[in-house]
Amino acid sequence: MKNFNIALIPGDGIGSEVVSEGVKILKEIEEMDAAISFSFAEFPWGCEYYLEHGKMMADDGIEQLQPFDAIYLGAVGYPGVPDHISLRELLLQIRKGFDQYVNLRPITLLNPSLTPLKSKTEKDVDFLVIRENSEGEYSGAGDWLYKGKPEEVVLQTGVFSRKGTERIIRYAYEEARKSNRTLTSVSKANALNYSMVFWDEVFEEVGKEYPDVETYSYLVDAASLYFVAQPERFEVVVTSNLFGDILTDIGAAITGGLGLATGANVNPERNYPSMFEPVHGSAPDIAGKGIANPIAAIWSVSQMMDFFGEEKWGEAILSTIKTILKETEQLTPDLGGQGSTKSVGDRFVELLKDNRIT
Ligand code: NAD
Ligand code: IPM
Ligand code: MN
Repeated sequence: MKNFNIALIPGDGIGSEVVSEGVKILKEIEEMDAAISFSFAEFPWGCEYYLEHGKMMADDGIEQLQPFDAIYLGAVGYPGVPDHISLRELLLQIRKGFDQYVNLRPITLLNPSLTPLKSKTEKDVDFLVIRENSEGEYSGAGDWLYKGKPEEVVLQTGVFSRKGTERIIRYAYEEARKSNRTLTSVSKANALNYSMVFWDEVFEEVGKEYPDVETYSYLVDAASLYFVAQPERFEVVVTSNLFGDILTDIGAAITGGLGLATGANVNPERNYPSMFEPVHGSAPDIAGKGIANPIAAIWSVSQMMDFFGEEKWGEAILSTIKTILKETEQLTPDLGGQGSTKSVGDRFVELLKDNRIT
């Protein structure tokens, strides 16, 4: 019997609503598979905690999370707490603190009717974005000088270390080689004359070790156009932290919206726990209404199962997602249905049972 310890951080707004449904799926897996069990510990961290305690998580939060096999996070951020505090002091601190330098965001069309792109099929929209997740534009370094004065200047420094840039690019080459796919680097050296010139150089240098991998290199503005107009160009994409953030929301848009977009924050060396979460935020506009789409969060559970080496469950969840997406009426309103977060979760459990793989 394998037991996996999972730290739950439901967080704010729809974060906690969708995590409840993901946990239902985990409990169902435990029920169906005699060889697997999960232990859960829930951490009440987020904006409410902040308003009560003046901090987003416990002072020793990182130490508390360290022993877990994985972290399952909903979303954080809510009106009333400045975003740069809520996100930097929880989500970004975990990504950085646990050296989760790889962010895996699949852009896969799970049902052809979900893309807003005319005449694009599942074959055209099927790629993986590998986003640098620990430094770059998100380094947090900067300065605010002469505040409030006419000569006021604000600096936001991108930090691209040799180690940080090489390791994400190498990871992407390995992924492309392993799966026999092309690799596209997205950068912006025509304007960012230090960071992106360096990025491009490293992409080329590391590429010498992978002569078998076919590569492309696009500027981020053109890449944004191709994501929408010609997504079939992409198989594996590697890019910096900020570009990856923005591009994967475009990726979500072409596959059916943020309710269907997942991301794994991975520490490949497994020195620290990795974290699984939907790409979307706490969605204050629909929070509390019970209508958030839980499928992105459920897909995160699939990524977690793959990470645990339980690929059969990762695949079972993904194929169940494809099945449920055919039941248009049952889905949440973002996908044109009349279902609720809970009803989609409950139906998902039924379908997973039918999909019986044990
Ligand atoms: P958002 O992702 O919360 O919402 C954007 C739009 O998508 C909204 O219209 C929302 O209703 C819709 N949407 C998102 N997820 C959905 C779902 N599962 N089902 C149906 N519709 C969904 O982005 P935002 O509005 O820019 O940010 C809101 C807050 O969330 C901010 O505080 C932001 O910083 C934070 N945020 C947190 C995370 C995270 O914790 N990982 C990620 C993104 C944004
Ligand atoms: C994401 C989010 C975060 C990011 C924010 C909330 C800091 O947008 O995970 O995509 O930019 O990484
Ligand atoms: Mn984002």
